[in-house]
Amino acid sequence: MPQRVLTGIKPTGTPHVGNLLGAIRPALRLADQGLEAMYFIADYHALTTVNDAKELRQLTLEVAATWLACGLDPERTIFYRQSDIPEIFELTWIFDCFTSKGWMNKAHAYKAIVAAAEEKGEQDADAGINMGIYSYPVLMAADIIAFDIDLVPVGKDQKQHVEIARDIAQRINHVYGGNVVRVPQPKIDEDTATVPGIDGRKMSKSYGNQIPIFASPKALKKAVNQIVTDSSPPETPKDPDASTIFQIFKALATPEESHQLAERYRSGIGWGDAKKALIDRIEQEVGEARAKYDALMADPAKIDDLLAKGAAKARVTARATMDRVRKAIGITR
Ligand code: TRP
Repeated sequence: MPQRVLTGIKPTGTPHVGNLLGAIRPALRLADQGLEAMYFIADYHALTTVNDAKELRQLTLEVAATWLACGLDPERTIFYRQSDIPEIFELTWIFDCFTSKGWMNKAHAYKAIVAAAEEKGEQDADAGINMGIYSYPVLMAADIIAFDIDLVPVGKDQKQHVEIARDIAQRINHVYGGNVVRVPQPKIDEDTATVPGIDGRKMSKSYGNQIPIFASPKALKKAVNQIVTDSSPPETPKDPDASTIFQIFKALATPEESHQLAERYRSGIGWGDAKKALIDRIEQEVGEARAKYDALMADPAKIDDLLAKGAAKARVTARATMDRVRKAIGITR
């Protein structure tokens, strides 16, 4: 049996070039590595922070269209929306009853918010934290365990959440004896690409420095032109490694292309030309996929339909897990 891997995508922002190189491409490659790949849009996870109905709907469509345009094959893999799988939410309650409150107190994502509140001198360190944020790892455990997942590829920030899912699965198996649920494992990607944003810091929605993957050519140009450069004239030799423009280019381009641009830097390049090289390279990378993306975004019913079909496939496993768990805990007729 091939190992089954799961990737969860939270629709909290318009996907950017950093997401493309650091998350989307590596995740799509899993399907070519002899693994059975499942991908889902964690829309109910996004509800912990996105409280605008239109925005949640729009982001869900954008994220789905992005992954499809970037090559996700809904025939060969399973692609669905979390909210279409009711079993996940029934499992969440059951798992709540086997999750120590202390585990949640120690979850990094929650602790980081508390630490930020304390730093700001908030009276109540829990201010602004809803129960969804607090018990986020339990819903994530249900996302994983519902589908008998073997491996969850995650960055370091999510490793602890997968370990909590492991703990929950092991506790259920221990309490009820035997293999009621499959125990998942984190698969840590050490060398995922990080791409700088237009201000030189890591590209991230929270810094507002992102270049959207499928921005219109005009918006793409505008974003790249915002990259801050010094006032050195074109003929001055420049250090590519000290240039954000070059760093973003290098993350996308082949070594040969990067080498060529580096040579142009060393022999003197105008910043306008460097920016143009980057804009052209991004355009080359995403132009074709953008047409696919635009077509999908113009037809939301098609996206909904694809996701619904994926959910129907995914639910077969979720129902079987649900049946085993219900039987094990004594919720039967
Ligand atoms: N927590 C993940 C993130 O913030 C998203 C996610 C939700 C997820 N459920 C998951 C990832 C299950 C992997 C498996 O990126």
